[in-house]
Amino acid sequence: MKEKLEQMRVTARDAMEAAGTEDLLQDVRVRFLGKKGDLTAIMKGMGRLTSEERPVVGALANTVKSELEGLFEARLKTVREAEIGKRLEQERIDVTLPGRRLSQGTKHPITLVTEEIVEIFSSLGFGVAEGPEVEKDFYNFEALNLPKDHPARDMQDTFYISEDVVLRTHTSPVQIRTMLRQAPPVRVIAPGTVYRRDSDLTHSPMFHQVEGFLVDRNVTFGDLKGILTTFIAQFFGKNIGVRFRPSFFPFTEPSAEVDMQCVICGGDGCRVCKNSGWLEILGSGMIDPEVFKAVDYDPEAYSGFAFGMGLERIAMLKYGVNDLRLFFENDLRFLKQF
Ligand code: FA5
Ligand code: MG
Repeated sequence: MKEKLEQMRVTARDAMEAAGTEDLLQDVRVRFLGKKGDLTAIMKGMGRLTSEERPVVGALANTVKSELEGLFEARLKTVREAEIGKRLEQERIDVTLPGRRLSQGTKHPITLVTEEIVEIFSSLGFGVAEGPEVEKDFYNFEALNLPKDHPARDMQDTFYISEDVVLRTHTSPVQIRTMLRQAPPVRVIAPGTVYRRDSDLTHSPMFHQVEGFLVDRNVTFGDLKGILTTFIAQFFGKNIGVRFRPSFFPFTEPSAEVDMQCVICGGDGCRVCKNSGWLEILGSGMIDPEVFKAVDYDPEAYSGFAFGMGLERIAMLKYGVNDLRLFFENDLRFLKQF
C-alpha cells in the first residue's frame, strides 16, 4: 500500500504540473482526490492492514493528501493568473490610437441665408415673429383683403386642407397675426415655409419667404425703398443691379416687385431668368387701409409698408445656383459646398 501511495503521489504531481488550464486541473483533482478518486480507492484497503502498519500508512496517506491539496491550490493560482494574463493580452486596447471623428454637418444654404437676413434686419431694429404653416383662410386671404371670390386668389395656387384651412401660400398671414396682437408702432420680420402648387426651375411647391413690415406714423414709400435698398446692398454687395417694378397685391397699395439682375448670365438672358436678365425676388408695397381695418389699426393715423421675399431666389443669386430644386434634393455633394 505504501508503494501504491508513493506511486500515486508521483503520478498526481506530474498530472497537476501538466494541466495547463483550470478545467484540466479540476479534472486531475477529481481523479486523484475526489470521493471516487484514486486516494479513496487505496484507503479502502486499510482494513486489511495489521495494527502496526495501519498508523504508518494512515499518516502517509494524510501527508500525500495534504501535499497534493497544497499543490493543487498553488497550481490553481498559477493557472488562473496565466489565463487572466492571456485575456488581458488578447483584449488589450491601445488607448493611444486616435479616435474616430464624428463628421460635422454644415448648415443648409437656406438656413444660412435666413440667418443672414435676420441679422441684417435685426440691426435695422426689426424683431422676429412666426406663424403656423397650416393656416386659416382668414389669415392667409380674408384679412389680407382677399375675400373668397376675389380673382387675385388665382395668383397663388393653393393647397386646401378644407374650405377654411390652407397650407399658407405666403408669410403675409404673420402680418395679420402680429398686428392683431400688438398695437403700432411695429417693426417685424417673419421667416417661414410656404406652399404652392408650382414647380419649375425657379418655382417649388414648398419654399421659404421672409415677410417684413413696418407700421408707424408717417411711413412713406421712400422708407420702403430705403430699407430694401439698404438690405440688398448689405446682403449682396453694391455691384448688383436692382429695379423696382410697379405691381399689384390686394393687401398693398401702391405695390412694387423688386427684381435683381440675374447672376447666372450676368443679365444677358438665360433659362433661369427666362431670357429677361432679371429675377423677381420680392413683392412689396404700402399696406392697404383695408388690412388696417381688419386688424383694428386706424388708417388715418398710421401708415406702413410690407414686403415678402423668396429665400430660394435670393440664395440662387447669392451663390450662383441655376436650379432652385437643388435646394431640396439634399445631395451632399451640393450641400457640402456651403
Ligand atoms: C407674395 O407672396 C406676397 N405675399 C409678397 C408681399 C408681401 C407683397 C407683403 C406685398 C407685401 P409673390 O407671390 O410674388 O408675393 O411671392 C413673393 C416671392 O416669393 C417672389 O418674388 C419669389 O421670389 C418667391 N416665390 C414665389 N413663388 C415661388 C415658388 N413657387 N418657388 C420659389 N419662390 C417663389
Ligand atoms: Mg410675384
